[in-house]
Amino acid sequence: MGDIVRYGPNSLDFNTHSGMSAIYSTRANVRKTETYAAMSASRRTPNTISATDKTVHGFKRRIMSQVFSDQGLRAIEDRFMARINDFIPLLSVGTDEKEWGRPKEMASMCSWLAFDIISDLSFGEHFNMLKSPELRWFPSVIQKLAQRVTIGMIQPKFFNLKIDRLFMASQLKDILNAGTWIRKRSELRACLGNDIKQDLFYKMMNATDPKTGLSFTQKDLWLESIMLLTAGSDTTSAAMSATLFLLGHHPATLARLTEEIRMAFSREDEIHIGQQLNSCKFLQACINESLRLLPSVPNSPPRIVQEGGIQIDQDFIPAGITVGTSIYTLQRNPRYFAAPDEFHPERWFSNPKENIKEDSKMKNAEESLT
Ligand code: HEM
Repeated sequence: MGDIVRYGPNSLDFNTHSGMSAIYSTRANVRKTETYAAMSASRRTPNTISATDKTVHGFKRRIMSQVFSDQGLRAIEDRFMARINDFIPLLSVGTDEKEWGRPKEMASMCSWLAFDIISDLSFGEHFNMLKSPELRWFPSVIQKLAQRVTIGMIQPKFFNLKIDRLFMASQLKDILNAGTWIRKRSELRACLGNDIKQDLFYKMMNATDPKTGLSFTQKDLWLESIMLLTAGSDTTSAAMSATLFLLGHHPATLARLTEEIRMAFSREDEIHIGQQLNSCKFLQACINESLRLLPSVPNSPPRIVQEGGIQIDQDFIPAGITVGTSIYTLQRNPRYFAAPDEFHPERWFSNPKENIKEDSKMKNAEESLT
């Protein structure tokens, strides 16, 4: 297969790091396709992910970058550490030191953890899925929403002509129920105002765009919180279960990682965001390698070329063409990664020349999507 795949009459996928940089750099003459509309809970008002207009997207990004600043994340650390403390005991339930523990369904447990953290940070109150089964139906609704979004991104008529309502009629009730539930929760959170300071909602409510002086409206707050719940939960839970799965299948790697963590911290409660955690390079490499092999977002985020066209590698692409780079395919491209289907966290920091081909360029490609 060559470097370019034409997967639709006007749609091209580039399997090169230089193509990725050209398409996703902030100055690239492209914008998100209209199909992103399917990613907002409102057909009329976009959220940060679905905003295709660069001015609207810029405004939302300037607000969100304050919400997710290093300082902002440090301020909410205690809240997500509390949820992690709910998670840890579940790992050891039914485990006898001398015997094998009972099998555990890690994908669901990671999903409960992710949802508990994101709901807590978004609404100041968590779903409590780790401790109670009451709201464990929620992730399946989010999966249905994700299916609807994926089909809508590939075939816009599915969303534009409201065909989704026909095909997903049996699931629509659950989706609407979840939407109403989140809306109510977000209204309740808004009523609490600034009483809860350590959550994302507080930060979204109080952030002002330095360029326009504008802030999020009530509707924006609802749409952004539903977006955070969907964008932040499935992605992180998939990343966690992928990392745990791969470590479970590579005992030598797990032993090396365990040693690194035990050298850096003598007790669990010492583990916090900061220099000591950042010094765990092998941990970071394990996460990078898991995301490379099993990316939570594997597809090709589509961008439409604007008036004036764009140069991608050796080709000039005119306006109106949809372009992108498939994350899964690029991350398994043997041109950039030796033994691309194998799990080798070492490739991310030791002997990069041996393990990651054209490593410096790959780094640029990686940075271009962040
Ligand atoms: C392993 C975890 C994650 C992965 C792999 C991931 C991946 C991605 C990717 C590939 C995009 C670009 C999508 C596109 O342009 O179509 C994106 C955008 C975004 N993600 Fe994530 N994400 C993760 C976690 C999160 C979390 C935890 C949050 C928030 C709670 C979040 C919020 C967002 C937002 C707001 C955008 C839109 C950014 C913009 O367009 O300016 N993500 N993510």
